[in-house]
Amino acid sequence: MIKSKYRTIKTSIPNKKSLSLINDLKKFEARGMHGQVPILWNKAKDFQVFDYSGNKWIDFSSTILVANVGHSNKKVISEIKKLLKKPLLHTYSYVSKERYEYLKKLIKFTPAYLQKAFLLSSGSEATEAALKIMRYYGKYFKKRRNIILSFEGNWHGRSLGAEMMGGKKNLKNWITSHDKNIIHMPFPYPWNKDVKKDSAKFFKKNIKKIFKRKKIIPKKDISGVILETFQGWGSIFYPQNFINELKSFCKKNNILISFDEIQSGFGRTGKLFGYMHYKIKPDLICCGKGAGSGFPLSFVLGKKKIMDLPAEGEMSSTHSANPMACAVGKATINEIEEKKLIYKSKKYGKLLHNKLEEIKKQYPKLVKYVYGKGLVASIIFNESKKKKIANKICDECFARGLIVIKTGREALKIAPPLTISKEALEEGISVIGEAIKKYYN
Ligand SMILES: Cc1ncc(COP(=O)(O)O)c(C=O)c1O
Repeated sequence: MIKSKYRTIKTSIPNKKSLSLINDLKKFEARGMHGQVPILWNKAKDFQVFDYSGNKWIDFSSTILVANVGHSNKKVISEIKKLLKKPLLHTYSYVSKERYEYLKKLIKFTPAYLQKAFLLSSGSEATEAALKIMRYYGKYFKKRRNIILSFEGNWHGRSLGAEMMGGKKNLKNWITSHDKNIIHMPFPYPWNKDVKKDSAKFFKKNIKKIFKRKKIIPKKDISGVILETFQGWGSIFYPQNFINELKSFCKKNNILISFDEIQSGFGRTGKLFGYMHYKIKPDLICCGKGAGSGFPLSFVLGKKKIMDLPAEGEMSSTHSANPMACAVGKATINEIEEKKLIYKSKKYGKLLHNKLEEIKKQYPKLVKYVYGKGLVASIIFNESKKKKIANKICDECFARGLIVIKTGREALKIAPPLTISKEALEEGISVIGEAIKKYYN
């Protein structure tokens, strides 16, 4: 039993009543949706989640990096109510005032060189749209450029194109004919010896090898590169020299650079967008998750001349620019500005990472690495397949009133709402320490 300022656990965990409904649901729902800790969400407010039995958790997940402005944010809810009162639920691609106001606000809020956006509903749709726009770009050269480069281990969503750009081989065995023009480059994992020695050389050496094997002439064949701003499961950023090399390679060969900011956008890493850590200006960025605070809202943002490559009517989607999603999107930006959430993410991010480094020092046999920036972090464990230690520690945190993200790998991931209080953040981190201690011997 746990009773602290921010956590209450007053039943056995998993809670029997919740578990009974969750298990019953499995009769009607395909299993592909399952795998997270068994909690039956009753309500969620700011950085806390409540079940139906009086249990209360600190949330270090933001569901899945979505509730950046806090769960059930009051301003967000008030905007939804306004639309319900009107009433206006859907407009397809007919124009609404909400869409106009959101896009105007979005373009003002983001760097000036990013001039136009295209709204969608999910992150996968946004990366698919970026793929399409990069291919459109490739069409306009004398010899059509078809190749898109992406990275091994990265993640861009579950639809066909997104999964083909993604670099997780084990998730792609359902694809029968992989697009041979989507080519993956090795990711610069920080523990790789060659990366440690010289990450720029690592980039150059690998592209040279791939281009030779596949007979690629960059200036004639490649239209774009897509990068996940940090590799998700491990919150692993690229070395600056690697990005510098990629940047000059793309500039030299007129290749578009797209950043997948679906996790890293909207203040998560202590900057508005994660790419801003790298001294680079991507041609396209894809956002979702935190952009909509729980509403299905995503977008691609880019330079005018690139965003306008598809002709009128070629990029619409039934739920694009839903007026409620737009109103929520605008309220989300207002909240980020008014509550100075980017600054908060940076400031509390320092605290989070310092404390995690202390935990790493305290439990060196179990904690291998800590990565991330701002209010996103991953603890990577010395994992053994048999023990599944990362999962066990997630479950232990859950039993103690803290929700962290299960990555399905050797990492535990942390991403609290950016609105979290210092006290609750510290309390949550100490729970992680306690959970690790339990398994340390
Ligand atoms: C980096 C990244 N790209 C794309 C996606 C796909 O977004 P969605 O699940 O909204 O389709 C995700 C989702 O986890 C993601 O983390």
